[in-house]
Amino acid sequence: GASSAHNKNDFLECLNLQFQKSNSESDSIYTPQNASYSSILQSSIQNLRPASNSRQRPLVIITPDHESQIQAAIYCSKKYGIQLNVRSGGHDYEGLSYTSQTPFIIVDMRNLRSISIDTEKNTAWVQTGATLGELYYTIAEKCKTLAFTAGVCSTVGVGGHFSGGGYGMMSRKHGFAADHIIDAKLIDANGQIHDRESMGEDLFWAIRGGGGTSFGIVVAFKVKLIVIPETVTVFNVTRTLDQNATQIVHRWQYVADKIDENLLIRLFLRSINSSNGKRTIGAFFTSLYLGPVDDLLPIMQEKFPELGLVKEDCTEMPWIESILFFAGFQGQSRDVLLNRTPVSAYFKGKSDYVKQPIPEYGLESIWKFLNEEDVNRAEFEFSPYGGIIDEISESEIPFPHRSGNIYMIHYVVSWSEEENAESKRHINWIRKLYGFMARYVSKSPRDAYFNYRDLDIGMNKIEGNTSYKQASVWGFKYFNNNFRRLVHIKNKVDPTNFFRNEQSIPPVSLW
Ligand code: FDA
Repeated sequence: GASSAHNKNDFLECLNLQFQKSNSESDSIYTPQNASYSSILQSSIQNLRPASNSRQRPLVIITPDHESQIQAAIYCSKKYGIQLNVRSGGHDYEGLSYTSQTPFIIVDMRNLRSISIDTEKNTAWVQTGATLGELYYTIAEKCKTLAFTAGVCSTVGVGGHFSGGGYGMMSRKHGFAADHIIDAKLIDANGQIHDRESMGEDLFWAIRGGGGTSFGIVVAFKVKLIVIPETVTVFNVTRTLDQNATQIVHRWQYVADKIDENLLIRLFLRSINSSNGKRTIGAFFTSLYLGPVDDLLPIMQEKFPELGLVKEDCTEMPWIESILFFAGFQGQSRDVLLNRTPVSAYFKGKSDYVKQPIPEYGLESIWKFLNEEDVNRAEFEFSPYGGIIDEISESEIPFPHRSGNIYMIHYVVSWSEEENAESKRHINWIRKLYGFMARYVSKSPRDAYFNYRDLDIGMNKIEGNTSYKQASVWGFKYFNNNFRRLVHIKNKVDPTNFFRNEQSIPPVSLW
């Protein structure tokens, strides 16, 4: 209404003034009147579904190339009561970095993406606007035996990914991205810039898995790099129902979390057309072994002969080539890792944790669900845990899903623009599936992975204060008992709830 238009003008005036004060160019401020506003807005939107449902567009997009511009954005949005959303890679499953139910602005970190690597100390400072692809590329340019453990998709942003966990193909050996953060640069709700020492261990703990959003704007993370062998081995083996997929998947559940931690066998399941034109289930075993093929084969022969892996299925390569392999860029130049434009889609995703193997008849019911959706629309990913994940305490960082979990399930259903009118059908399908799966997965709480954000599991109130009880509905699923400490820290560092969204930690006092 009129008052929000009024606010908007005052806000813009405030912003320009603050920029002038710090001698900043105002060409990093985009309003809808600006010709590049739409392309900037859309360029890193990975999931088109939230954007297509959203009635609000950001009043302003700011693409800071200096911290003072972030401070200006915080100062002015606080002054005029406008919500501030931060976007790094734009891969949020519910689009929370670029949509909102109330008037908002976006601070888009794209220009703050420098990466500096110290090959003596094996550390790196990574600005949050960098993508995983840029990080992997830059490390590989510097050194063949250094790497980092994080996600598979190269356009995912460091800002959201690191602050929520970060699982990848080396996680059984090296854990999550967040496990390796050793320092950070953060701007708080008062516009103050902190490093680890000045923010204190509580706040530093919170941003390593508790989501950056609730606590401030993370400008950069310092991480410990990991040492890897010069040669790794990858394989991708598919089994259909005729090839005993059900029995092999069933068996996988007894092997995947216990096998040598240098080996991670991830499993993708899709309904596909078989060569005779009939529907079948394709079980795609996609794996990384940190070592040569001759070491891998005896391990597979002893622990998982049912898969029938042979040498011809395997390829040895440097680690950076395995990044291309898993991201679907096999055979292409490494430069594709520098391409920041995501392959956008309309999708809905959900997650679950499995602590007891699912019986064969359970798997068969799951195949029925997969066959209900169109071919190649729906996919399950079974991501094995175990290895070092079992050895890290549940409260080490806010990401709590450690020992006791065999694997995480990621469900996703996607559709095209033409089909978007039918999005309800797909969303109902995945919700029904999720309801069915309750019997096979973790209970009280039903755990979920924060980085696979799902607003179905609970939300804050849009207007007014969210109670501890209300936020507990989703909070315990993502963070288990770490949720209480996150609330306590939020209450200390951002009591007015400046940094907020539909699933941010509420600042209520528990003590
Ligand atoms: P985006 O910019 O949308 O931010 C996500 C959230 O973090 C938002 O709430 C945002 O406000 C907040 N935020 C972002 N930058 C911030 C900053 N600098 N300071 C404070 N808050 C900030 N996960 C995984 O573990 N392993 C994987 O292999 C994959 N693969 C994958 C593939 C694809 C295609 C998608 C869409 C997603 C994944 N993910 C994943 C999930 C991914 O880890 C998750 O979506 C991250 O939050 C994305 O981070 P972005 O910075 O890209 O998102």
